[in-house]
Amino acid sequence: MAKIGSLEVSAQGFGAMGLSNVYGHAEDADSVRTIHRAIELGITLFDTATGYGDGHNERLLGSAIAGKRDRVVLASKFTHRRGGTDAIVSAREAVEASLQRLNVDHIDLYYLHRIDPLVPIEQSVGELGRLRDEGKIGAVGVSEADADQIRRAHAETPLAALQSEYSLWTRDVEAEILPTVRELGIGFVAYSPLGRGFLAGALPTEADDRRNIHPRFQQDAVAANARRRRIIEDVAERLYATPAQVSLAWVLSKGVVPIPGTRHIAHLEDNVAAGEIALDAETIAELEAAFPQGETVGDRYPPEQMKLVPRQPAFA
Ligand SMILES: NC(=O)c1ccc[n+]([C@@H]2O[C@H](COP(=O)([O-])OP(=O)(O)OC[C@H]3O[C@@H](n4cnc5c(N)ncnc54)[C@H](OP(=O)(O)O)[C@@H]3O)[C@@H](O)[C@H]2O)c1
Repeated sequence: MAKIGSLEVSAQGFGAMGLSNVYGHAEDADSVRTIHRAIELGITLFDTATGYGDGHNERLLGSAIAGKRDRVVLASKFTHRRGGTDAIVSAREAVEASLQRLNVDHIDLYYLHRIDPLVPIEQSVGELGRLRDEGKIGAVGVSEADADQIRRAHAETPLAALQSEYSLWTRDVEAEILPTVRELGIGFVAYSPLGRGFLAGALPTEADDRRNIHPRFQQDAVAANARRRRIIEDVAERLYATPAQVSLAWVLSKGVVPIPGTRHIAHLEDNVAAGEIALDAETIAELEAAFPQGETVGDRYPPEQMKLVPRQPAFA
């Protein structure tokens, strides 16, 4: 088990984004079976967002957990922008809409998904704090904030969690962000812990897979980064494990809560079993030497989306 603020959660959570045709086609009936298997295996933290599949993901997760709500710590996120327009959505409007789509009367953890350039973070989390006081949400989180934004938000409304990208090929948070959340007692939820599948050896195969527009999934970047990935495969072979398990075991070794996503029960079972693998210090050092901070080829998002995430600080 792990703690995010005062929330007790399983050591790893389940990220539901890929169940809305983001990384290839997903069938709802299969997705519901995968979510049920995750609950059976003891996963409690389930992560969705208003933007995943334009509401589809929240509706799907809500229908899958019906009758099992007491076994689930439900997390969702919102942005102040409604797709394609400049109109500002308030946190209250977003929470009310999420509650309806999820078909619940309370969401355990609600994040600001991206900090809006036109809405001060104090205003966003202040509004979420009031929704927490009213009992509509259980705890407040932010996603992809830098150290200064985390401090400003936390001073306004105590944060339970920061959710940011963290994996062997994305170690940006180690310089300033992880030390900041540790100092402030904020839980860290690591998204895309398998490098959107890359670290597990999974690449896009369908034309409308979102990764096709990501710099790191362009041919040259894949070739360059695959050279580093070989060390994960070597370690996996030595430990009779899979590359996905080694990648997740590394994230778990940092004392954070990863939320890997998958459409497949076999991959889910593989990921859950990563909790049994304790990497020794030598193996951790070997993996980190193969993935030095900041040396992965390709930005982690396309240019427009990069504007909304912290740029990697210079490493000393
Ligand atoms: N806060 C944010 O801005 C943000 C951004 C991105 C993601 N997230 C959250 O984080 C969650 C996880 O991130 P993610 O989905 O981007 O990436 P991820 O968990 O790093 O990787 C998911 C990919 O890995 C594949 N995979 C999973 N387990 C595998 C295994 N054992 N063996 C081989 N391949 C495996 C999946 O394919 P299959 O489906 O074929 O298994 C999928 O393509 C999301 O669902 C979402 O909830 C948050």
